[in-house]
Amino acid sequence: SKEMNGKPLVFLDSAASTQKPQVVIDAIADLYSNYYANIHRGVYQLSQVSTEKYEEAREIVKNYISAASSDEIVFTRGATESINLIAYSYGRYFLSEGDEIIVSEMEHHANIVPWQQLAKEKKVVLRYIPMDDNGELLLDEFYKMLNTRTKIVSLVHISNSLGTINPVKEIFNKAKEIGAITILDASQSIQHTKINVNELNCDFLVFSGHKIYGPTGIGVLYGKLDLLKKMEPYQTGGDMIKSVTFERTIFADVPGKFEAGTQNIEGAIGLGAAIKYINSIGLPEIMKYEHQLMKYATDKVLEIPQVKIIGTAKEKASLISFILEDVHPHDVGTIFDKLGVAVRTGQHCTEPVMRHFGIPATTRASFAFYNTFEEINVFIESIKYVINIFD
Ligand code: ALA
Repeated sequence: SKEMNGKPLVFLDSAASTQKPQVVIDAIADLYSNYYANIHRGVYQLSQVSTEKYEEAREIVKNYISAASSDEIVFTRGATESINLIAYSYGRYFLSEGDEIIVSEMEHHANIVPWQQLAKEKKVVLRYIPMDDNGELLLDEFYKMLNTRTKIVSLVHISNSLGTINPVKEIFNKAKEIGAITILDASQSIQHTKINVNELNCDFLVFSGHKIYGPTGIGVLYGKLDLLKKMEPYQTGGDMIKSVTFERTIFADVPGKFEAGTQNIEGAIGLGAAIKYINSIGLPEIMKYEHQLMKYATDKVLEIPQVKIIGTAKEKASLISFILEDVHPHDVGTIFDKLGVAVRTGQHCTEPVMRHFGIPATTRASFAFYNTFEEINVFIESIKYVINIFD
């Protein structure tokens, strides 16, 4: 119902961050208005209720991804912190010189840089599965890379800059055959597709709350219990301990061991409300609708000869990245803004993807279940408007 620059807002930047359902806003307001107190610390009623709601959110996440136990759900600041946590608390302690980590050419920087840092420190080897010009991973290259030194395979599920849905189940099954640890970056898939951590054979899974209609500053690290148990804490301090003396500290059990300090209480409760909302609509319904939206948008874009779509994998979801010959994406974005259309332009935190295609940037329109077919029409007309201006 909002306007942007005097035009009805067409929000096509949900891959960067989603808008929040009223129930999420209400859940946060309800916490602050009615039962706010610090969690895990008070014997009084307010603290007990806040703690219950925080832990209920953990249970909601656990059920949403079909984890075996809510102890396998750690709240973090986001997917980035979750990956850093794994690199620090697992990578640093269980990898040694000469071990290998495999990621892909289409990773978000958050799934590259923490491993590069680890590689420098531990002298481990970082390998990248290449992709073709459709934005599909070259699985044969991956199979050739796998060897007994491969200790971690960490992959994006749905690419945030190309929209490719990667065959992660197949890749992870192979990785598990040689005993590697598998990590799924579900930041761009958790809101668009059903995820079952056991079916996908992942040891860890990460996502950010703000991309699944929840608040910013909250994220999830799912980890298999036996792995989380043997890992060292990422941060230390209050609430992550059982006992502290001057001589030694005994850490809390998981997941508390990984949640040092006062946590993002409203973030977790807001995230719980967001997932409940998705469940109330039904993920299959959402997937069906978004698929129709994506197909409609893609067909319409393909009718415009001046547009080149970047990322043409057979299996795609939720977004279209494109370039217009001789028009910089920032100009496209700026003109779109005047028309009320919000898209992201740039490298989308995936510079290696841009290098692969030999382009500086793309314009990316990304969709969520709150978008409409009418909004896609406005998007298409906006592309044509930009083309006319530059003609
Ligand atoms: N990673 C976010 C995006 O894709 C911010 O836009």
